[in-house]
Amino acid sequence: MSSVLTQHQRVLSGMRPTGLLHLGHYHGVLKNWVKLQHEYECFFFVADWHALTTHYDDPRIIAESTYDMVIDWLAAGVSPGSSKIFIQSRVPEHAELHLLLSMITPLSWLERVPTYKDQQEALKEKDLATYGFLGYPLLQSADILVYKAGQVPVGEDQVAHVELTREVARRFNHIYGREPGFEEKAEAAIKKMGKKDARLYRDLRKRYTEQGDQQALDVAQALLENQQNISLGDRERLFGYLEGSGKIILPEPQALLTPASKMPGLDGRKMSKSYNNAISLRESVDDIDKKIRTMPTDTNRVRRTDPGDPGRCPVWQLHEVYSEDKTKEWVQEGCTSAGIGCVDCKRPVIEAMIAELKPIRERAKDYTDDPSAVKAIIDEGCEAARDVARDTLDEIRKEMCLSR
Ligand code: TRP
Ligand code: SF4
Repeated sequence: MSSVLTQHQRVLSGMRPTGLLHLGHYHGVLKNWVKLQHEYECFFFVADWHALTTHYDDPRIIAESTYDMVIDWLAAGVSPGSSKIFIQSRVPEHAELHLLLSMITPLSWLERVPTYKDQQEALKEKDLATYGFLGYPLLQSADILVYKAGQVPVGEDQVAHVELTREVARRFNHIYGREPGFEEKAEAAIKKMGKKDARLYRDLRKRYTEQGDQQALDVAQALLENQQNISLGDRERLFGYLEGSGKIILPEPQALLTPASKMPGLDGRKMSKSYNNAISLRESVDDIDKKIRTMPTDTNRVRRTDPGDPGRCPVWQLHEVYSEDKTKEWVQEGCTSAGIGCVDCKRPVIEAMIAELKPIRERAKDYTDDPSAVKAIIDEGCEAARDVARDTLDEIRKEMCLSR
């Protein structure tokens, strides 16, 4: 399929393997992936090479976390039937594309990506003045472009990386998509569409290139999608010609912003492993119970008879995630009048969390009990991803005159 057509329906995202996932990942990222997998062709992978850029001196954690993370994805409902689940380092085409893209990527583009300086600052104890770490966002570009993905679900902090990817793709197409005689070839391709469609294409192209008419571009792309009689190469040319560029070899992806997880941790701050305030997806019933029971509450409620203020209490934030209006009213009323105690107040939260995590924990156990099933899922995902990545690299090598 043509690059532009493929891109419309393909989603790709990755996660660095850094230990067991928690409820913050579930409510933020994983539920979103589960939804997307029914709407798009999804590629989800473990970014172990990316983890190595910061944990190169401690690679064991990466290896240990990789399978666990895949199990957490599966337990959360990411389905190997609907998405390709794989491991970055098992698809060496990511590395090859990273290398090839590095040839055309100006150093300054990488140096000005905000995460480069920010992360060095945040992880001062590590030496991140490495070639690999500078290349982190370009490796991410290769991850995306090797599948010609159109949509990349990421958090706010990763948007700059998708932006870089767009610039690199544009530059790539500019350099390698300008084959000799491009315009003549595009004109010849237009004729192959037949009189009526050719006229329509020319008209729409004019409206887009001269007046920036976005709707004309959409209609023209749809027109190309429906052409039966033109070759893949011609279609690619006509997509590029529409936008006034050369052939589109690597389509520009878009960030699909994942709303920041509002999942509060046990102390009211955002849930995060590094704050030590997390509930993992595999937390046992007893541990959930204990962790919530010992959670801090409004510090003004020293005695049971002191009225409290839910606005000053992290437990209330959990009610906002888990409780229905009726329960929330009961909390508001009971807390401010000292009608209920904190132990009573926590009960519905504990129950809701246990109910939410029960199926997840059970599914995770099925997989931890059967490692060969997990291995088979990963093997299959890696193979399927590789098939796609190989095709892209074949095409790119040709464009860069590296054909074998
Ligand atoms: N850098 C991403 C993160 O830290 C992980 C990642 C690696 C990724 N490659 C990707 C995300 C490609 C989206 C697409 O979250
Ligand atoms: Fe917090 Fe509930 Fe106790 Fe009020 S009653 S302080 S909301 S735990």
